Amino acid sequence: MTLRVAVIGSGPAGIYTAEALVKQAQEDVQVDVVERLPTPYGLVRYGVAPDHTSIKSIANYLRRVLELPEVRFLGGVTLGEHLSVEDLLSSYDAVVYATGAMVDRKLGIPGEDLPGSVAATDFVNWYCGHPDVSASMFTLDSPEIAVIGVGNVAVDVVRVLAKTAEELSSTDVPHDVLERLGESQVKAIHMIGRRGPEHAKFTLKELRELGELANADVCVREEEAVVLGGDFPRQIRGNIDVLRSWAARAPVGRPRRLDVRFWLRPVEILGTGRVEGLRLERTRLSEEGRVVGTGEFETIPVGMVLRSVGYQSVPLPGVPFDERSMTVPNEAGRIREREYVAGWLKRGPTGVIGTNKSDAAETVRTLLADLAGRDRLRSAPIDALLDDRGVRPVTYDEWLAIEAAEGALAKSLGRGERVKLAGLEAMLRACRP
Ligand SMILES: Cc1cc2nc3c(=O)[nH]c(=O)nc-3n(C[C@H](O)[C@H](O)[C@H](O)COP(=O)(O)OP(=O)(O)OC[C@H]3O[C@@H](n4cnc5c(N)ncnc54)[C@H](O)[C@@H]3O)c2cc1C
Ligand SMILES: NC(=O)c1ccc[n+]([C@@H]2O[C@H](COP(=O)([O-])OP(=O)(O)OC[C@H]3O[C@@H](n4cnc5c(N)ncnc54)[C@H](OP(=O)(O)O)[C@@H]3O)[C@@H](O)[C@H]2O)c1
Repeated sequence: MTLRVAVIGSGPAGIYTAEALVKQAQEDVQVDVVERLPTPYGLVRYGVAPDHTSIKSIANYLRRVLELPEVRFLGGVTLGEHLSVEDLLSSYDAVVYATGAMVDRKLGIPGEDLPGSVAATDFVNWYCGHPDVSASMFTLDSPEIAVIGVGNVAVDVVRVLAKTAEELSSTDVPHDVLERLGESQVKAIHMIGRRGPEHAKFTLKELRELGELANADVCVREEEAVVLGGDFPRQIRGNIDVLRSWAARAPVGRPRRLDVRFWLRPVEILGTGRVEGLRLERTRLSEEGRVVGTGEFETIPVGMVLRSVGYQSVPLPGVPFDERSMTVPNEAGRIREREYVAGWLKRGPTGVIGTNKSDAAETVRTLLADLAGRDRLRSAPIDALLDDRGVRPVTYDEWLAIEAAEGALAKSLGRGERVKLAGLEAMLRACRP
């Protein structure tokens, strides 16, 4: 009998899981990839920066998995809304949860909830055209913006803020968002790290790109680029060298300015009614290696604070969740009988797209070993149940129709290969005319 598996989430982890199931199973296997959005690929579509087209092209690999005869895409179906864990376990031999990490981590400082204090998750969703966020959510009317955090997401956000709308015109940024980016009043962007250049999480390739911005001068303060000790891995040495070279060069009068700052931690977001400033405290490392304040403060007059301090997963109803690590407790991917986990929900929100491939392969090895020789379920697949509930999943072909409409839109606007359709309704209209 066929082994039936449901994979929840169609990001890299979910799709690599489907691929590993087809490749590793020694018997017939049928995999349903269940996704809450009408569109597959998770953060590859709604996270990877629009100007990183070569990384986005990983979707061409993921697409081939969805086109395997053993794999089926069921879009617009949400675990916890349309389906429960019990529904899944009565229709499939096993379930793999791969729902990623969808919300922002909190700073826990006063003023964090003021209008103008924005989670990078929302801002990224905005410029990526995620249907949870409307194009009118942000107006870039402040001349100065702070981005807190020095990871790769912060670098993406900074780059999008620093570029002109013309520079982004050939990307898939929704047209309304591009227009808002074109009206941006931003003159200065402050990217703020609470530790030193040697501790920054961004990678060398991504950092270097900031130095190539045509529309912004990148500035680093000499005293903040000083790094004591020298025995660092190659990537970190590279970051330090790049930052020190920027500290040594003078601005050349480009329209925007990017200040990359270190050893400053946010202590309060200031403002009455909306963000008017950000208060920072200079830091140092304690003898135990913890970040501690020095009692020296500085305020920068920003009208927007973008908090890019990491993503985190949300609990799925009926699935165990560790509130401390914000992940699903597992052993090599196994949660409990017939339930498994993969990707950011399994390991936390770090790692590049490729990391999810070996991670998914591990989960699948565990699953197949557990289920070897066990009786298969004889119940019908999930279709009848969804039908009874009036849920009509978006099929893979319908997703292709959305993609085609995005291509047609780009052509009509004279923009690149594709322009994202904004909002669920527009997507559903495109695939179910
Ligand atoms: C802003 C950003 C930019 C990035 N850029 C890069 C990059 O340039 N290069 C790189 O290598 N890595 C990049 N990464 C990292 C990479 O995106 C992740 O490693 C990867 O996407 C994690 O895969 P995942 O499948 O676990 O999660 P996700 O990609 O988040 O996929 C989870 C999927 O589950 C769906 N889902 C959630 N809840 C439910 C539910 N209840 N029911 C059904 N479906 C659900 C979601 O809609 C989503 O499609 C970036 C990450 C971020 C945040
Ligand atoms: N192009 C790419 O390959 C690409 C692009 C985007 C994302 N990604 C990947 O996606 C993953 C997530 O990236 P991310 O940038 O969200 O996370 P990240 O790499 O973990 O970076 C988070 C940043 O936030 C800082 N931070 C955390 N809490 C803070 C606080 N309370 N106050 C001030 N600063 C704080 C961290 O500083 P500390 O170090 O001091 O904690 C760090 O600088 C990473 O693995 C990343 O490499 C890759």
